[in-house]
This record gives sequence, structure tokens and C-alpha cells, in this order.
Amino acid sequence: MSDPAVRRALPADAEAVTGLIERAIRISTAGAYPADAVEAWATGRTAEGVQSMIEVTDGFVATVGEVVIGWANLDGDEVDQLYVDPDVGGQGVARRLYETIEALARANGLDQLRAVASLRAEPAFRRFGFREVDSDQVTFNGHTFTVVRMAKRLDRPLPGQAAPTGMGAAATSPALITTGSAADDG
Ligand SMILES: CC(C)(COP(=O)(O)OP(=O)(O)OC[C@H]1O[C@@H](n2cnc3c(N)ncnc32)[C@H](O)[C@@H]1OP(=O)(O)O)[C@@H](O)C(=O)NCCC(=O)NCCS
Repeated sequence: MSDPAVRRALPADAEAVTGLIERAIRISTAGAYPADAVEAWATGRTAEGVQSMIEVTDGFVATVGEVVIGWANLDGDEVDQLYVDPDVGGQGVARRLYETIEALARANGLDQLRAVASLRAEPAFRRFGFREVDSDQVTFNGHTFTVVRMAKRLDRPLPGQAAPTGMGAAATSPALITTGSAADDG
């Protein structure tokens, strides 16, 4: 895989992101949950719902050329979505997306990030520095899933410390920061 780029998600990405989420769940979480639950999770959203998430939260996509290979977002202080195309799994795409989100969270002045991790994503969140708060059950599309509530403390930047540079800086322009809450399946 050539080096992916990370950029702000656009409403026009909704169809591609919806397909990506479906593939990521169907293939990458097979075995983590019962097959009928995986299928319900994979197919339980519409492109319109994803577009709404893109519009009201801080979403990012990883791309190779024009192809969307990953998607993640920040909703308040929660890393709500994190999905990577299984064809490029294990190559650091989730980490690239996560680091963009953490840079934005720091620029927003957040001192903590939260995540409700699937059993498949929990090891990755641990690698990103999250710790388990507790485990829980969530219901989505008629099925119940065991998830792990996790949190990570963010070190406060020192007074006068430079803002993030490079891609993170472009992505964290205050003019681009949105707040809001989207009901979802993250
Ligand atoms: C979980 C998911 C996002 C990981 O994407 P990815 O691009 O393969 O992850 P990366 O290659 O960036 O790996 C990130 C880190 O997690 C680690 N990791 C990932 N999966 C792991 C596993 N099953 N066990 C142990 N470590 C794991 C990697 O070693 C890496 O650590 P490092 O950066 O310190 O070397 C992807 O598998 C996915 O989309 N899963 C299905 C959907 C899902 O459950 N999403 C989360 C909803 S909360």
C-alpha cells in the first residue's frame, strides 16, 4: 500500500464510508461476536445517517488516491468511529487516524478521550494508550454487544507550547472544529 493521506471527511464521502464500515465489520469482527450480530451491526446504518455523522462530528478519512480506506471521528470527547478496510488492516491506518484525532482533541483543550471499543478494537485502543474503565453491553439493530468502555488522559500542553504542525494543524483549524452529538454504533 502506498502511504495513505488523512483528510477531513466530506458529506460526499458518505457512500464510500458506509461501504467501508460494512466491510470492516463483516470481515474484521467475524469471530468477535456471533455471526447474526455481526451481520446486523454491518448492515445497520444508511449513507444518510453516515452523512449526518460527517456533518455534525469531526470526521476524518484515510485515502489512497481517491479510495477511502479508513474512517474515524471525534464526537465531543469520544473517539466514536474507527474503521479500516480489512484489505489494508495491520498497516498502521487506524493509528494514523487516531493520532489525527488526538491532535484535534488536544487543540480543542480536551484533557481526556473516551471510547466505547468493540472487542475487536480494544487491543488497538490499548496500544493508543487507553485504559479500560469497565465493560458494558450495548444494543444495536436488535442485537446486544459486549463492549469495553475506555479512557485516555491527555497531557495538557504547556502554556505557550506550539500548536500541532503539519496535517494535524490543518485539520485542527478552529474554523473547522464542530461540536455535536450523533447517535451511532461506534
Ligand atoms: C480495529 C481496527 C480499526 C484496526 O485497524 P488497523 O488499521 O488494522 O490498525 P493498526 O494497524 O493501525 O494498528 C493499531 C495498533 O493496534 C495494534 N493492534 C491492532 N489490532 C490488534 C489485535 N487484534 N491485537 C493486538 N494488537 C492489535 C497494532 O499492533 C497497532 O499497534 P502499534 O501502532 O503500537 O504498532 C480495524 O481492525 C477495524 O476496522 N475493525 C473492525 C471495526 C471495529 O471494531 N471498529 C471499532 C469500533 S469501536
